[in-house]
Amino acid sequence: MEKTELKNIVILATGGTIAGKASSGTQMTGYTAGAYSVADLLAGVPELGELAHISGEQLCNIDSSSITDALLLRLAQRCNELLAQDDVDGVVITHGTDTMEETAFFLNLTVKSAKPVVLVGAMRPATAVSADGPLNIINAVKVAVDAASTGQGVLVMMNDEIYSGRDVTKTNTANVATFKAPNGGPLGFIVGGEVHYYYRSVRPHTLQSEFDVTGVGVTALPRVDIIYTHIGEDRVFVDAALAAGARGIIYAGSGMGSIHEAVEAALAEAVGCGVVVVRSSRTGSGIVAAGLERWQEQGFLYADNLNPQKARLLLQLALLRTQERNEVQEIFNRY
Ligand code: SIN
Repeated sequence: MEKTELKNIVILATGGTIAGKASSGTQMTGYTAGAYSVADLLAGVPELGELAHISGEQLCNIDSSSITDALLLRLAQRCNELLAQDDVDGVVITHGTDTMEETAFFLNLTVKSAKPVVLVGAMRPATAVSADGPLNIINAVKVAVDAASTGQGVLVMMNDEIYSGRDVTKTNTANVATFKAPNGGPLGFIVGGEVHYYYRSVRPHTLQSEFDVTGVGVTALPRVDIIYTHIGEDRVFVDAALAAGARGIIYAGSGMGSIHEAVEAALAEAVGCGVVVVRSSRTGSGIVAAGLERWQEQGFLYADNLNPQKARLLLQLALLRTQERNEVQEIFNRY
């Protein structure tokens, strides 16, 4: 392709293992994530110059396990600024894999553009023998410049697979094939260096999403806590969430969002205090439906097939718009 025909892609770097540094080529754990800069990353993949006009920007350089609500908002706002520019055709975000699914879903709901936004990371540090980062970055840029990526919502490109930011989740602590969409599958693949799409996400995203975080400060984003059930659970964490000022609780229930009987009264009290309680599941896949009539009478909502960490983000955004339980449930049914 002639250089003049190449698209303009911004690489927004946030850190992670893709920018990670270990002390040897075989060290795959216990290394420092977010050690290399965006300039270092780009210098490692000169092939990108054949695919697009690339510019790099460092938003932060951290382990994604430490991403804050403030950073998430800044990332969404920066993506929207960049994508509003005529001279930007797409954004690739390098990101740690640990919380990539959360950032991808948040951006899927808050980016206001049909232009491609692709998150990419790596499971092996940049110093590793067989590091997966360089090819993942090349593939992410290929996805970002592909016309079929327009209007697909925010995407995740990992290990030759393209996922919707809504559905993707990390399923394995170390394997390079860790990203899956357990309730569906990838939207497409990269094979032979070419992008192939087969599916689309039908849930609203980006331009169809009602959520707008323009000008929203971190103090405006409501506190929503996740409470993870287990045998022998008691009400301690519900009380702690209330004491901390939570406006929402995601209950990561067992099975189809089942609630431990020792906690149910505390959750009902939370609803009585105006806290929105949404049942999700710790199982890792499947739909959580309305369930017992008793739960509905107590005002507990249900998260459809969003896992707890994704349900938390949707509830934060929903609470920016409404406190009405019926309306929040409608949002969970729709998104
Ligand atoms: C991180 O999430 O920042 C560290 C782990 C990874 O990127 O794989």
